[in-house]
Formats: sequence, C-alpha cells, structure tokens
Amino acid sequence: FSKGVKYLVDTASNLHSIPSEYILPLSLCPLPVCNASIPVVDLKDLHGSIDRRASIIQALSSACSEWGFFRIINHGIKISLMDDMLRSVDGFFSLPLEEKMKYASDDVMHPVRYGTSLNTSAKHALHWRDYLRHFGHPLQNSFHLWPDSPPNYREVAKEYLEEVWKLASKILGAISEGLGLDRDYIEKSFGEGSQIVASNYYPPCPEPHRTLGLAAHSDHGGLTILMQNDVDGLQVRYKDNWVQVGHVPGSFVVNLGDYLEILSNGRYKSVEHRGVVNEERTRISIAVGHGPELTAIVAPASQLLDEKSELKYTPILYKDYMRSQQSSVSSVY
Ligand code: SIN
Ligand code: FE2
Repeated sequence: FSKGVKYLVDTASNLHSIPSEYILPLSLCPLPVCNASIPVVDLKDLHGSIDRRASIIQALSSACSEWGFFRIINHGIKISLMDDMLRSVDGFFSLPLEEKMKYASDDVMHPVRYGTSLNTSAKHALHWRDYLRHFGHPLQNSFHLWPDSPPNYREVAKEYLEEVWKLASKILGAISEGLGLDRDYIEKSFGEGSQIVASNYYPPCPEPHRTLGLAAHSDHGGLTILMQNDVDGLQVRYKDNWVQVGHVPGSFVVNLGDYLEILSNGRYKSVEHRGVVNEERTRISIAVGHGPELTAIVAPASQLLDEKSELKYTPILYKDYMRSQQSSVSSVY
C-alpha cells in the first residue's frame, strides 16, 4: 500500500529526485509543446437571438471537429462558486491521510474513490497525482458517501455539480443542433444520465521531466467540463503535437469524450490529453464528466447514417465500456 504523492512530498525532507516507480520511459516523457491555443467560445446570449445562437453553434461545431477541446467564457457560473469548490477540494486533500483513506477503494466502479496511482496494481510508471472521484448524478446513490470533511464539502460540491450539469446541458443542446439533430437529442440519449467529478492533486515534483501527473488518455463520457487553479499542466494532442492549455481565470476547458465521438460516428473526436507537473507549485484540477446512464448503449445516432455511410463503431453497453477503460493502464475516470 502506498500513501500517495502528497504524503511523499510532505514527509520526505529534501526530495531531490523521484522514486524509480515514477520514472517513465523517455518516449513518454513530456516533450516541448507547440505554440497553438485551443479555440475560445463565448457563450454570451446562447439563448438570445436566432443569429447569435447560430453563430455560437457554428463556433462550437468547428471547435468540436477540429480540436475536440475548447475554452468557454461567459458561461454563467459564478466565479465565487468556482472558488468555493476549489477551496473545498483543496481542503479535502489537506486532510490527514487516515481521513482520506476512508474513501479509498480498489473497486474502479465504486461511487466514491480516493486514491493515488501508487495503489493501483498496474505494472507501469506511476502518476504524480492523488485524486478524489465520485458521482454527482444520480445524486441519491452516492451523496451520503461523499466526503463529509471539510465540513462544507457536500454542500459546495452539490451546488457546483448542479450548476455544471445545467451548463453541460446547454452546451450539449448546441452541439446536438450543430450535428443537425434535435436540441435535446444527446441529452435524451443519456437517459437518466451520469455525472462524475474527478478532482486531481499534483504536488510539486523534483523531476518533472521524467514523469507525468496523468498519462495521455481520452475521456469515456460525453462532455467534460474542467476547471483548475492558477497552475498550468494540461496538454492536449493537436495534429501530432502537444498543446499547452493555460489557465485563464474564470473560464472552463471543455472536451468531448468517446461517447460523443461514437454518437457522431466519428465526425467529432474525443482527443487525447495529459497532465504534466512542475517543480514549484501544487496544481489542482477538477474535471466533471457528463455521460449516459450506465445501462445505455453507446452507438452512432441513426440520423447521422445514410445507406452509403458506414457504421464506424460497434454498439456497446456504456457500463462495460467504462469498466474496461477504468481498468486499463492509461485511464483515469
Ligand atoms: C488535468 O489535470 O487537467 C487533466 C485531468 C483530466 O484529464 O481530467
Ligand atoms: Fe481526462
């Protein structure tokens, strides 16, 4: 059993090098990144005039097909709520290890899970990352299992996750329309839907160029909405390069997951991304994934297929898809 990277950094005096388990093969180490930026989509007046909505839908649609990643501004969520959520998550990771370990579980499908990559059994280089992951929706199955410390965690996380769900729903409506589908098509395909929050804690690392906070992966769900503190570290794959996604106060970074790549029959891509670490400061990111209920079938939308187009993906039960992703080496949700 391992106590994770925060514990390691907090207790080792003068940590000048990283333990060998964290050292990645050279081919996987962070490379210099290319100088491009993900598109920015301004959501102001998404529900305003028809023309305004059409132009936002167009911007989202090209961001989804070209990048699979975009930043949103004027999204309507209060900065004070974002800050409260960051503080609550920071408060959780600052708890004594025994307290956090109450939430540890080896079951990848457990509704609430605290962990560090060190306690996985996988025989690969380990991530410089501790995490807390739990369902936000359906709420009734997991709320009573959420951390009750720091004392306001449940209250803040509940409000935050409800607001983020509403935002996801607006964006999904616009993405549906961009695909030529009814506004509620994607959300209806979710059935009851699922929402999972993964909060990541990356402490300073003495040898950031020899390891990763989080290995390259794509997300399995529909839409991920991510916020972070003011420390950079997210990188996105773009045309065989890695692009750094910097911190812009008050904005969210949004990406499409595999479910939407499949639903769109490949028109939109679920793009690989990873987390790099640094020597100076702790990075915290909070990723909230929105996807279908676990018993949904993941398959291309029939309206997007005609007799000539080939079905690029085989339908699969979402739960099975998620479990296989969760158990594989590079996956995290
Ligand atoms: C990040 O820490 O920014 C990446 C987390 C993720 O892939 O959700
Ligand atoms: Fe991710």
